[in-house]
Amino acid sequence: MYIQSATILALLTSLTAAQDDPSPADYPYIKPGDLDNRSACPGLNILANHGYINRNGTHITKESAIEAQILAFNFDRETAAGPIDAVLKYSTTSTPDISFNILDTSRPPLDQNGKLTRTDRFFGDPVPFNRTIWDSVIDSLPAEDNAFTWKEMADAGALRRIRAKAVNPEYEMFETHLNATFAQMTGLIAVFGGSVENGKARIDWLNASIVEERLPYHLGWKKSEEMLGSPQLGPILRAVRTAQSGGV
Ligand code: HEM
Ligand SMILES: *[C@@H]1O[C@H](CO)[C@@H](O)[C@H](O)[C@H]1NC(C)=O
Ligand SMILES: *[C@@H]1O[C@H](CO)[C@@H](O)[C@H](O)[C@H]1NC(C)=O
Ligand SMILES: *[C@@H]1O[C@H](CO)[C@@H](O)[C@H](O)[C@H]1NC(C)=O
Ligand SMILES: *[C@@H]1O[C@H](CO)[C@@H](O)[C@H](O)[C@H]1NC(C)=O
Ligand SMILES: *[C@@H]1O[C@H](CO)[C@@H](O)[C@H](O)[C@H]1NC(C)=O
Repeated sequence: MYIQSATILALLTSLTAAQDDPSPADYPYIKPGDLDNRSACPGLNILANHGYINRNGTHITKESAIEAQILAFNFDRETAAGPIDAVLKYSTTSTPDISFNILDTSRPPLDQNGKLTRTDRFFGDPVPFNRTIWDSVIDSLPAEDNAFTWKEMADAGALRRIRAKAVNPEYEMFETHLNATFAQMTGLIAVFGGSVENGKARIDWLNASIVEERLPYHLGWKKSEEMLGSPQLGPILRAVRTAQSGGV
């Protein structure tokens, strides 16, 4: 009898969960506390700052990170899972097959040079957001009508890497890293820029997301109504790759 009602309860709970689309109000932005860890990945930091993944930045399960991106960004499952296995390989949790700490993303060999928002490891801790570097990237976008194209963003990224390479004697750009930067830029454009349409991504939304590590609802940002998977993101990825096929 007990088991029966528990089963019915579980069933009812799961049905309710499937019907209610949780509202952004259930995931408020809270500034990270002194004991909360953050990474060099703005995407993960934003998910943690809104509580879509553990706010403390530790023991993030693969499943929770997938669910988080589905809920927060309307990614499809495959897209959400994309970057996780590479991180699990270097996980320092007690259950590295299924969970990672946020800082596991931000050490060699995953840590990249020439990031858009952080300094290179050669110059100091590459984890904290660096406003000087990010402003240099934003400043290199043409900024017409508060919008940018895929190629403009790809060129801004390449310029940042050229500048980083010019001053960092230890600069290296492995093919895995370059591929990762194209995928990350695709996320910036589609999610924070708020559009999968070339020429329509919003500079103010992207900038506020990155500077504040917060979803820019205050500027009218909303998650995509259309689920984002390969059909939506593939063209952006190919365009940024084609624009910068020479690497740097
Ligand atoms: C579970 C999901 C994710 C994982 C495991 C992940 C992992 C990583 C890793 C390993 C890096 C390199 C960090 C370094 O160089 O030290 C990175 C950077 C980055 N990630 Fe993520 N990421 C995730 C989700 C996202 C999402 C959803 C977005 C955007 C919508 C995003 C955007 C970025 C960007 C833009 C960078 C480069 C930052 C820069 O150039 O300064 N990531 N991520
Ligand atoms: C969290 O950050 C602290 C430093 O603030 C560090 O000592 C600790 O190792 C980090 N924890 C993990 C699991 O990365
Ligand atoms: C971080 O939060 C998770 C989920 O609430 C919890 O399981 C874990 O013990 C916390 N870690 C630390 C170091 O507080
Ligand atoms: C930010 O990056 C610039 C350029 O690399 C560097 O001069 C500056 O020291 C960095 N700021 C911080 C707080 O690390
Ligand atoms: C980088 O991406 C290209 C194009 O998708 C692929 O052919 C290549 O194998 C990738 N390289 C690495 C090291 O993942
Ligand atoms: C970027 O965002 C910051 C903080 O919200 C703001 O101070 C700055 O003016 C913005 N820059 C641009 C180019 O929108």
